[in-house]
Amino acid sequence: MAFLSARVARARISASAASAQRTRELRAAGVDIIGLSQGEPDFATPDHVIEAAHRAMREGQTRYTPVDGTPELKEAIVAKFRRENGLSFKPENISAGAGGKQVLYNALMATLDPGDEVVIPAPSWVAYAIMTEFAEGVPVWVRTGPENGFKLQPAQLDAAITPRTKWLMLNSPSNPTGAVYSPGELRELAAVLERHPHVWILADDMYEHIVFDDRRFVTFAEAAPQLAERTLVVNGASKTYAMTGWRLGYGAGPSSLVRAMARMQAQCSLNPSSISQAAVVAGLDGPQEIVAQRCAEFQQRRDAVLPLLEAIPGLSCTRPDGAFYIYVSCAGWIGRRTPAGQELATDVDVGAYLLESGVAVPEGTGYGLSPYFRVSFATSLDKLKEACRRMDAAARRLA
Ligand SMILES: Cc1ncc(COP(=O)(O)O)c(C=O)c1O
Repeated sequence: MAFLSARVARARISASAASAQRTRELRAAGVDIIGLSQGEPDFATPDHVIEAAHRAMREGQTRYTPVDGTPELKEAIVAKFRRENGLSFKPENISAGAGGKQVLYNALMATLDPGDEVVIPAPSWVAYAIMTEFAEGVPVWVRTGPENGFKLQPAQLDAAITPRTKWLMLNSPSNPTGAVYSPGELRELAAVLERHPHVWILADDMYEHIVFDDRRFVTFAEAAPQLAERTLVVNGASKTYAMTGWRLGYGAGPSSLVRAMARMQAQCSLNPSSISQAAVVAGLDGPQEIVAQRCAEFQQRRDAVLPLLEAIPGLSCTRPDGAFYIYVSCAGWIGRRTPAGQELATDVDVGAYLLESGVAVPEGTGYGLSPYFRVSFATSLDKLKEACRRMDAAARRLA
């Protein structure tokens, strides 16, 4: 009898984590690598948020709190949804956890029985599929492509739904493509979902505040209020306030689901850090200008790096409308040979070749759509430019 459970095999390591790990190892060995795998803003947490954390510690907010968030945090989240999304939730609709990831995990663990299906547009953040499998559900990948801006089409959604479908995962702005759904596109998907009343919608709005070109972000819950009774909105402090290490995310949805999610969390980790909760109250209730300033900085980087990537022979890009990623097609490199004579048969080979050339990127295979790799522009412009120079040189060495 094996000591480790079968579950462990289902907990695969994500492409971006594997790429970040390879980068750390090579750097430790003295190799000069530019890492473009980062899934977090390269900015500091705002000062007023850090001060609120200090205050909370000094005032003794260092004990257990209610499992899925303090009343103050839930009130701040309710106010955020009212102010930014025009949504009216009550505290009993809110569940906070150690990151949006834990909230998603709770939702899947609380709803999936073995064999239940989750529709996941590909490419997507790989955690959806891994967590679905972890909860003994079945990921149903639906391929999107550059021809539709990497957005799920209504007919595709309709075709993917079966009597076993429990959830549709909808992530806008998207990791890894930066695709942002317009209100009209969300309404078209909602029209399909109205015909399938057993399917719930998980709107992952984690990158809500990183949208470009003066686009207004609209969450699925706002575009389709008629589906509120089966919509869970997930969001968090990680990307908005550069707080990835603080681990604080939240969900908002029907109270019956939210209660079940809290029961999952109660047997796993209890409350998210009391200090992080107090800090996020300050983030949500405080000045928001810095959020827009940082979004403008991301947009500048996108505008600078996109033409450099597109000029590299054999690579092509779809312009991201949000988040801080570009999903780069490397179809033009497939079948070519490296100077060492190795054929690039897949995007995994391309990732290995780029690493040899001094650039670390997670491969598209990990996101469910090949042959691609993801470039994160949550890093300085100087590094981005140097990385593009290295990729261009790598392209020109291919036979
Ligand atoms: C699409 C998406 N959703 C959710 C998360 C979870 O973020 P966190 O757990 O830090 O709140 C991430 C993190 O990378 C993400 O890319």
